[in-house]
Amino acid sequence: MNPKTFKIKNFGCQMNVYDGERMGELLGAQGMAAAADGEDADLVVLNTCHIREKAAEKAYSDVGRLRREDGSKPLIALAGCVAQAEGAEARRRSPMIDLVVGPQAYHRLPDMVAEAARGGRPVDTDMPALSKCGARPARRRATPSAFLTVQEGCDKFCTYCVVPYTRGAEVSRPWDEVVAEARALVDGGACEIVLLGQNVNAWSDGDRGLAELIREMAKIDGLARIRYTTSHPADMNDALIAAHGEVEKLMPYLHLPVQSGSDRILKAMNRSHTTDTYLRLLEKMRGARPDIALSGDFIVGFPGETEQDFEETLRLVDAVRYAAAYSFKYSARPGTPAATMEDQISRDVMEDRLRRLHERINLHQLAFNRSKVGMDTQILIERIGRRDGQMIGKSPWLQSVHLDTDARPGDLIDVTLVSAGPQSMAGAVRERVAA
Ligand code: 5AD
Ligand code: SF4
Repeated sequence: MNPKTFKIKNFGCQMNVYDGERMGELLGAQGMAAAADGEDADLVVLNTCHIREKAAEKAYSDVGRLRREDGSKPLIALAGCVAQAEGAEARRRSPMIDLVVGPQAYHRLPDMVAEAARGGRPVDTDMPALSKCGARPARRRATPSAFLTVQEGCDKFCTYCVVPYTRGAEVSRPWDEVVAEARALVDGGACEIVLLGQNVNAWSDGDRGLAELIREMAKIDGLARIRYTTSHPADMNDALIAAHGEVEKLMPYLHLPVQSGSDRILKAMNRSHTTDTYLRLLEKMRGARPDIALSGDFIVGFPGETEQDFEETLRLVDAVRYAAAYSFKYSARPGTPAATMEDQISRDVMEDRLRRLHERINLHQLAFNRSKVGMDTQILIERIGRRDGQMIGKSPWLQSVHLDTDARPGDLIDVTLVSAGPQSMAGAVRERVAA
């Protein structure tokens, strides 16, 4: 019997959130309903992440936990990057999995569910460029801040990273398609759009790049804010930098991963930038948009990283004064060049470096947040806070702002920022404006 209810559990990056929403719409179009929170679902889709070992292992422990007390289990679909990387092998590791669907094959999910319900065990991890894009269903409801995937895949082959293998080569969705989807999202209630791609700033259609796309989206009435993530330093061009100074709806925030502050390690990582080219790029960006909030990603404990290399990373953090940054312990991923490099770093050393890096990043986050105290700005309300009457929204610089208000998610309200912590800020409402 075909399942009647489904649950989609997303792990990993924002693109999985976007893909999860698309899968939900596809299943909904087949007459299935999303199970309520806490309710048992007939079908569980695990939308997995393969970027670090811990994330990948989580997929399998989650499968195990789906067995019910009476010994029965829901239909289980393994989706996302673990599905892509492991294919049929996933079911050998965990026979509870009924179907395996890679990110390029989601349009086939309803058929595969039907096949699995009949007792089949379908696997689809083909990677035909673009077929998934054309098969995306029309969007209906949208969250106040909505994701829109415009680009997928990566050709950069950083030596630690699985993405070029799990998400394939760089592919851009066509201009007309993404502009139409943006309009549909705004019609469906979105007032912020976050353009997504593994290398979103490599997006292109003919001679048009991400800057032109952003300028086009800015023309959409009712759309208040535009963001994009994740960018690669190599694809950061002058047109995009200029857009930050000129397009009012483009928010003053840039996530630009650097990974290390040591040129020797950057080279071993096959990153195409040096600390110097990276810093110069950020200087240009600050020239176009002086208040821009900068964020980055770091890996500590890449094979061969010495204490000196690591201290160069700390120096880079100080030089940039990040408004936010994400840091990870290096995780050896099967099939990547770095996994077999000599001089793998011990867990203890990695943990010590991660702690010191976190401390340093926190100092800069706090300083950035404090620099905004007393400022009048607009907050996009996103969700209900923990305390009664409290709501949480985002500032233009992507800070989480807590405030007492009767405003609802999707409202854009005038706020004075009144206090700052390292992870969030508090605001006081001034007056309500229409979103
Ligand atoms: N180990 C640790 N961190 C990694 N990342 C990517 N691959 C690995 C790995 N093998 C981090 C990078 C990237 C972010 C999404 O995840 O910092 O920017
Ligand atoms: Fe991975 Fe490097 Fe591509 Fe980013 S640019 S997805 S880190 S290979």
